[in-house]
Amino acid sequence: MELEFKVNDKAYSLEVDPESRLLDVLREELGLTGAKEGCGEGECGACTVIMDDLAVNSCLVLASQARGKEILTVEGLAANGELDRMQQAFIDNGAIQCGFCTPGMLMSAKALLLREPNPTEEEIRTALAGNLCRCTGYVNIVNAVKDAASAEETEGSV
Ligand code: FES
Ligand code: FES
Repeated sequence: MELEFKVNDKAYSLEVDPESRLLDVLREELGLTGAKEGCGEGECGACTVIMDDLAVNSCLVLASQARGKEILTVEGLAANGELDRMQQAFIDNGAIQCGFCTPGMLMSAKALLLREPNPTEEEIRTALAGNLCRCTGYVNIVNAVKDAASAEETEGSV
């Protein structure tokens, strides 16, 4: 099938197997290797990207389901040579250790702020419940999301 979609604001038209996974299209066809494959079964969140403003596990999304959609991957967060607020907040809060979970965490956190710019701690923990981290114990990650939300509130934009 021909897959027409947008990734990180760029339009693509690719010939793909309709049953190939969005994760593989991103990594193998487009060279966007930020989304990671952990479990491949929707359990770990390492492959999370944003599709039309919602966080999705790209290992569970078929290429055919991505047709006409707008996808945002971790590679699309930084702009004009500057890190996104969420990326900076993760660094400032020591929310990254090995980094394997980080792209997925960032995308789940960004999707949360798109729908709820001022989330409670419970809402943050719920939004990140599908993203597993073996290293950090989650506290610094939750603090990073709180900081990014406050920064966005102060600056008045998402
Ligand atoms: S690789 Fe997709 S949820 Fe684990
Ligand atoms: S930083 Fe290592 S899995 Fe999260």
